[in-house]
Amino acid sequence: MKLLHIDSSILGENSVSRQLSAAAVANWRQRAPHIEVEYRDLAAEPLPHLSGASLAKADPAEAEAAERTMQQFLDADVIVIGAPMYNFSIPSTLKAWIDRVAVAGRTFRYTEKGPEGLAGGKKLIVAGAFGGIHAGSPTDFVEPYLRQVFGFLGITDIEFVRADGIAYGPEHREQAINAALARIAANDGELAEAA
Ligand SMILES: Cc1cc2nc3c(=O)[nH]c(=O)nc-3n(C[C@H](O)[C@H](O)[C@H](O)COP(=O)(O)O)c2cc1C
Repeated sequence: MKLLHIDSSILGENSVSRQLSAAAVANWRQRAPHIEVEYRDLAAEPLPHLSGASLAKADPAEAEAAERTMQQFLDADVIVIGAPMYNFSIPSTLKAWIDRVAVAGRTFRYTEKGPEGLAGGKKLIVAGAFGGIHAGSPTDFVEPYLRQVFGFLGITDIEFVRADGIAYGPEHREQAINAALARIAANDGELAEAA
């Protein structure tokens, strides 16, 4: 069994999403000690933006790296993503990674009946961190977007653990982090959908 752990926060040790994604991975390691974990830090090693040249596979080295990224995604049974809110959405580095794994003919296709996801059978856990309080609000372009794009690829088993209001003050920050950590610790594989 393979787990792909992805972080995208630029805040290093102070990052909440990194703390939560690490806790989710530790929880999986405890439950499945033989799980093989691969780690990708998109802030430390960002992928290049998708371009016309990338689509044309003009640069063999870039095409090879893109294929490795795709294969790593396809091989994963469990994916844990640390997703901070930056400017109401996800970090551009995370979007650049999504652009490499959302590929027609590989992870989705269009049929006469409409789009079909080809990357089903995976479990996705997203650890989201938000300066403000956005849960369930039209100002949240993180959770709805990630649910949409991964759902489009066929991933229906999605758990979203959120820490909202991180910027509301130290007490609120601590409470939000502790509540999210408690949800992760209590996870027996079936985290409740609602925060
Ligand atoms: C560049 C940047 C942009 C941000 N934009 C928003 C925003 O639009 N809305 C919000 O509620 N918080 C925003 N925040 C606050 C972060 O969501 C908050 O600090 C959260 O903890 C980030 O996750 P991280 O700690 O894992 O990096 C922003 C923070 C940074 C550094």
